[in-house]
Amino acid sequence: MSLRERARRERILEKACAVAAACRKCQIGYDRRNNVYGEGDPCARLMLIGEGPGETEDLLGRPFVGRAGDLLEKMIGAIGLAREDVYIANTVKCRPTLHEGGKLRNRAPTPAEMANCRPYLDEQIDVISPQIILALGAPAAKSFLGNAFAITKGRGSWYEGPNGIALMVTFHPAYVLRQGGTALTETKRLVWSDLKKVRARLDDLAEGKSSPQPALFE
Ligand code: URA
Repeated sequence: MSLRERARRERILEKACAVAAACRKCQIGYDRRNNVYGEGDPCARLMLIGEGPGETEDLLGRPFVGRAGDLLEKMIGAIGLAREDVYIANTVKCRPTLHEGGKLRNRAPTPAEMANCRPYLDEQIDVISPQIILALGAPAAKSFLGNAFAITKGRGSWYEGPNGIALMVTFHPAYVLRQGGTALTETKRLVWSDLKKVRARLDDLAEGKSSPQPALFE
């Protein structure tokens, strides 16, 4: 990718980030501390899409910087990628919260919040134009594949994502962190198997084996 093209993408994303930061389509736009637009290589071949910012992300204005982020970095590290090599975003840019027992807690984004935020995500996907999107967890997966998507059954397969981009779903790192004992071992094994498929496809594409493989889009 030329330096000029990289700079062009950086400029567009910077402007789009400012637009998203000014957005108040949802109540969470008023409640959050920072807009968590996304970050990473604007020319990344792999884009990771999570659900929405948590407390640490909201505080720092950066995606996946809490405990789940640490695990995410280990996950991609296992396939030879650093945080700077990929682009990381979420289905919503503001932290969804609820008041519970006098505390502010994280919650899943509502369908309306995801729909309001979708143009920002779509623009990121258009600009970055990754070869592969890895959706982390069921809410992110459902935002691309519909509400009927069941992660236990559907993770680890290839789908046709936005703009025809190859899409894979794996478990969210926060979900992995909630497991223990044999469930943890098994969940990690499944995530590892998904990541190996992502690595293999990135390698195939780099070698020019980029012809469509319809059988992979199940
Ligand atoms: N979980 C997410 O889905 N996204 C983040 O940015 C952090 C935690």
